Amino acid sequence: MWRVVETDFLVIGSGLAGLTFSLNAADPFQVIVITAGKINECNSYRAQGGIAVPQDLEGDLRSHLEDTLRAGAGLSERKAVEALLRGGWEALRFLEGVGVPFDRNPEGDYSLGREGAHSRNRILHVGGDRTGKGVMEKMMAAVLSHPKIEVLEETRALDLVLRKGRVIGAVVQAAGKDPFLLLAKGVILATGGIGHLYPYTTNEKGIAGEGMGMAYRAGALLRDMEFIQFHPTALKADESPLPLISEAVRGEGALLLNDRGERFMLQVDERGELASRDIVARAIHREMKEGREVFLDARSVRLFSERFPSITRNLSQHGIHPAHELIPVVPVVHYAMGGVYTDLDGRSSLQGLYAVGEVGSTGVHGANRLASNSLLEAVVFGIRAAKRAREDLLTGSAKRLSFGELSLPYSPKELRSASEKADQSVMEEAKRVMWENVGLERDEKGLRNAKEILRLLQKRLPPLPTPVGHSITTALLIVEGALMRRESRGSHYRSDFPGQEKEAYHLYQGGNHESLMDRKRIASFSN
Ligand code: SIN
Repeated sequence: MWRVVETDFLVIGSGLAGLTFSLNAADPFQVIVITAGKINECNSYRAQGGIAVPQDLEGDLRSHLEDTLRAGAGLSERKAVEALLRGGWEALRFLEGVGVPFDRNPEGDYSLGREGAHSRNRILHVGGDRTGKGVMEKMMAAVLSHPKIEVLEETRALDLVLRKGRVIGAVVQAAGKDPFLLLAKGVILATGGIGHLYPYTTNEKGIAGEGMGMAYRAGALLRDMEFIQFHPTALKADESPLPLISEAVRGEGALLLNDRGERFMLQVDERGELASRDIVARAIHREMKEGREVFLDARSVRLFSERFPSITRNLSQHGIHPAHELIPVVPVVHYAMGGVYTDLDGRSSLQGLYAVGEVGSTGVHGANRLASNSLLEAVVFGIRAAKRAREDLLTGSAKRLSFGELSLPYSPKELRSASEKADQSVMEEAKRVMWENVGLERDEKGLRNAKEILRLLQKRLPPLPTPVGHSITTALLIVEGALMRRESRGSHYRSDFPGQEKEAYHLYQGGNHESLMDRKRIASFSN
C-alpha cells in the first residue's frame, strides 16, 4: 500500500533555483521542497565568484549579451539570453528583498568583480568569495520561516509519476524508510548538475545527474547533454569535491604559469587568463598532458585574504599562502550546459513538469556557460517558472486535476529493496570510465568504449528506478550526445573532429525519440 501526500507544488532540490521558485510560487499555494541531503548541501551554497548582472539596460546589456553568445559558441538562444539579462534587475531586487547583502565599495556602489570572457566588471558578490553562502543563508531562512513551504531533508525522488502523459508527482523516499507518493499539481525539477558522474569535480557531494536521468525515463526531452564545463582552476588536492579557486582570482590579476615559469595562456588566446573557460581549461589540460604542472600565481593580487576569505582559508588548510606561494591547479568538472529542455518559463516537454537551474536547458548557456551567469539564471528563470506555474494552476488544466486511483508497476517494498541493492561500486566504475573517455578531449574510440561499459554497468542494476540507475542513464545520454556531435564546439572537444561545423545545431534526446541528429530545432511544443 502506498502512503500518499498531496500538495500544490513539489520542488525536487534545494539550490537557488528551487528555493527561488518556492518563494515565488507559495501562498496561497502549498509547496513541498525535498532534498536528498541537508537544505544547504547544494552547488549554489558553494558558489564563490558571484552573480553576473548587466549594469544598465543599454550598453552593458548589449555587451553582456555579446559575451554570453560568444562564450556559448553559436548555441546560446538569443531570446533566452535576452530574457536572462532583462530579468537581471528584478532578480537583484528579489535577492535584496530576502536580505542578501551584496558587497559595496566605499562610495556605496556595488563592488563589481570580473571573470573569464566578460568584457567588463559586472559580477556582484557577497562576503568577497562567499557569495553562495551569503545568498543561500538568506534564501534558506526565508523558505524555512514561510508558512506555506515545507522542507523535507534527506528525502530523494526515485521516479516521476505520470497519468495520461502528465506528471502528477513523484515516488519519494526518506533515508532508510519505505518510499511514498508525493502528488502535486506541478512538479519542479531543481536537482542541479552532474559533477559526481566524474571522480574530480567542484560539485557538492551526491550531485550526479539523477534528475536528468529520471526526467528521461519519464519521457521528457533533453538537449545538449554533451556539453560539460570543466572549471580551469580547482586546487590540486586529494579530496572530493575539490576546492574551487574562483575565476575572480584571475579577474583580479592572477596569472597561470607552468612549471617552467612560462605564462602559456598568452600563446593560446589574446585574452590570456581571462579567455573563456573551455579555452583555459583545455590549455591547462594540454600543459599537463605534456608533463608540465600548472600553477596560479596570485602573488600580485592586492588584499587577497580580504577579497577571497574562503579561498584563503582553504589554501591555508593545505599549507599554501598565496601572497608568496604558487597555487597548484587542475581543471575539473564543474557544470552541465545541457539538461531537461524547457521553454522560457521553465516548462518541460511533459505537462506538469518544470525544470529550473542547472538540471534544465533554457538555451542560455549554449556550448559553454559564461562565468557567473548560472546564479542569475537560477533566479530569473526560477521567478519566471513560478509565475507560469501559478498561472497554469489557476487557469490551466492543473486547476481541475484530481489524483484519483493510481497503479504503479512496483510496490514500496520492491522499490526500497532495489535502491538498497543498487551497487555503489557501479558508480565508482562509471566515474572512472567518464573521466578517462568523456573528459576535456574525446574521440570515437573512447566514447564507444564508455558506452559499452556503461551499458554493462546498467545491467548490474535492478530493473527498477533507482538513483544510481538514473545517474547511469544520464552518463549514457552525455556519451550518446558526444558521439553524435562529430565536431568541436565550446566545451565539447573531439580530437578526431577538431573543426567546427558551419551550422550550429542542438542535439535532442528523449521525448520518446532517440537522439535526433536531424531534429535541429523543435518547431513547437505545447504544454
Ligand atoms: C568561479 O567562481 O570561478 C565559479 C563561477 C561560476 O561557475 O560561474
